[in-house]
Amino acid sequence: VEARLGGGPLTGRTVLVTAGPTREYLDPVRFISNPSTGKMGLALAHEARALGAKVTVVLGPVGAVDRTGLEVVDVVSAEDMAREVLSRVESADAFIATAAVSDWRPETRAPQKVKKGEGPENLKLVRTPDVLLEASRKVAGRAKRPVLVGFAAETERVVEHAREKLERKGLDAIVANDVTAEGAGFGTDTNRVTVISRSGPDRVLEGSKRAVAGDILSLLLVSPRG
Ligand code: CTP
Ligand code: CA
Repeated sequence: VEARLGGGPLTGRTVLVTAGPTREYLDPVRFISNPSTGKMGLALAHEARALGAKVTVVLGPVGAVDRTGLEVVDVVSAEDMAREVLSRVESADAFIATAAVSDWRPETRAPQKVKKGEGPENLKLVRTPDVLLEASRKVAGRAKRPVLVGFAAETERVVEHAREKLERKGLDAIVANDVTAEGAGFGTDTNRVTVISRSGPDRVLEGSKRAVAGDILSLLLVSPRG
């Protein structure tokens, strides 16, 4: 999609996106995380911007990325991400959660680097907030609430697991990603996804992450019934 000066189909709309991994530190130099690069979320953000939307990305730690035209809120942990999303979701027209949020964090964070001789033999983990679920609960029942779109990275029974998340989190749509498939998932430039929405049949989309992003937006935000 080309940048349009002064008016695309999403002009006047606000799109909130989460992208990238989170880091859950156990001391100042060690953390639990995952290999997410934020590429899919940033592709969606840039496409939404090109379509005229005002876009905010709540972004976990990734390397240098193109932030042109985006409002980027940098965060580290799942808790940070939840706070920044929950303060913005009510005023958004769409919330697209692509972040690979760590599901657990160390129960405690040591204030100083833990020396190897003093390290815990076992690490006690506790659950992090579910950013998307909390956002969904916050806007549930509102007359005017944002369109809620989740992503599901799965390694087996992809559509079945994704559909369960769509229901459990009260979403309008979920984009299911088989991360074991060739040319899909973490760090790749291409993707192959199945879009499962509450209204309408499942749709398989394939191509560069930017092309897939454009197709997801036109399917879910530009012409939701098309
Ligand atoms: N998600 C989130 N906060 C979390 C976990 C997940 O916002 N703490 C969001 C992701 O950004 C994604 C969706 O929920 O849009 C599904 O994430 P996924 O990891 O596939 O699902 P989980 O609910 O965490 O279930 P599981 O990892 O057990 O499959
Ligand atoms: Ca998870």
